[in-house]
Amino acid sequence: MTMDALLAPVKAFLQCETPDEWIAVACLPENLPILLIDHANCETKAAMTAHSLVRRYCLPKGKRHLLPKLDFYRELEALPEKAEVLGKRTMAEGDRSVFAELERNPLLFPMVRLIQEELHHFEQVLEIMNERGIAYEAVSASRYARGMMGAVRTHEPATIVDKLIIGAYIEARSCERFAKLAPHLDEALGRFYVSLLRSEARHYQDYLALAEQFAGADISERIRFFGELEAALICSPDEQFRFHSGCPVKTDSC
Ligand SMILES: [Fe+2]
Ligand SMILES: [Fe+2]
Repeated sequence: MTMDALLAPVKAFLQCETPDEWIAVACLPENLPILLIDHANCETKAAMTAHSLVRRYCLPKGKRHLLPKLDFYRELEALPEKAEVLGKRTMAEGDRSVFAELERNPLLFPMVRLIQEELHHFEQVLEIMNERGIAYEAVSASRYARGMMGAVRTHEPATIVDKLIIGAYIEARSCERFAKLAPHLDEALGRFYVSLLRSEARHYQDYLALAEQFAGADISERIRFFGELEAALICSPDEQFRFHSGCPVKTDSC
């Protein structure tokens, strides 16, 4: 599939394009460390969000502790396989029946694949930072995800449907930003960002399909609602620069 064909549904889903002013600030050399550090953070957050959805919605309350915390993977030599993500290898024999419950849930397969891919992206960003001598420092989160999560309804299945729609928007926006940023970055980084497009485009579609499945009813109103909210966070002035920040208040050109 060509890049244009991949991006067409992403752009149709999003209610606004990333403002040129954001691109201009994002490609300033002095902003490269913050762009990469925050991008790395976004990748781990994407994995953690998928992991928390598995914990909350694939397992009954009394068994959620059986799912290992996601940071266990740092001790592994390679990225975790499905069984490792789910803690199967470390689980006591008697607890393994939990897998029958996990396997029945439609969230499981796409979320585990997403966890694996996001952890891989995180490792790739860290490697790029390493090559460029950029240290991984603590950076505060942008207003973006918080701004949408504040609107999540508090009763099920509305809560899970809203969280899945938000997941779709975050993935779609990341995809759109990678594509828009790529031509303005140096060749290696541009190539890396283009390489991320395919998986992020699929992640947004996975989230959306799951939202429809969990709702069991038409969710176009809710998609429109979060689409407007997301576009407002992207297009309104934002004093902080981050991977998902809004329109920079002060801009310089590339
Ligand atoms: Fe990713
Ligand atoms: Fe993703």
